[in-house]
Amino acid sequence: MKTGISATVIVLAAAASCAYAQPSDHNSLAAGVNRTVEVSFPESTTVLPPGEGAEIVNSQCVICHSAGMITRQPPLSFDQWKAEVEKMRTTYGAPLPVDQIETVARYLATINGKH
Ligand code: HEC
Repeated sequence: MKTGISATVIVLAAAASCAYAQPSDHNSLAAGVNRTVEVSFPESTTVLPPGEGAEIVNSQCVICHSAGMITRQPPLSFDQWKAEVEKMRTTYGAPLPVDQIETVARYLATINGKH
């Protein structure tokens, strides 16, 4: 995701420097804006380890970001994971049903928990 964003910035910067070098040449600005760029995204094949709740997390939590966003976090307690899952729902709009919050938090505390 971040790779895509920085690629856009590169294109805009190229267009801007183009315009700066030749302020009166509008065609070169357009050429810069319309340029095609190659973007390669990093591999994202991480699947979370099996366990109760793994299927929910593998389907519900990777809609917006990779599983690595979860596994690369420092270990959290059950309550902290619960708060994190709540945040995904309320702040970011994750469509996780309320009755699955605890199952998910318990699973996350099992695979990446602190006691
Ligand atoms: C609707 C989109 C969406 C869904 C679904 C979603 N997340 Fe997120 N998540 C985000 C966004 C946006 C960020 C912040 C990304 C950033 O800062 O680069 C994030 C970040 C995180 C982080 C990093 C710490 C933080 O708070 O920024 C964790 C851990 C996380 N999500 C866990 C989960 C879990 C577990 C689920 C499943 C219950 C989930 N996410 C589902 C959007 C979502």
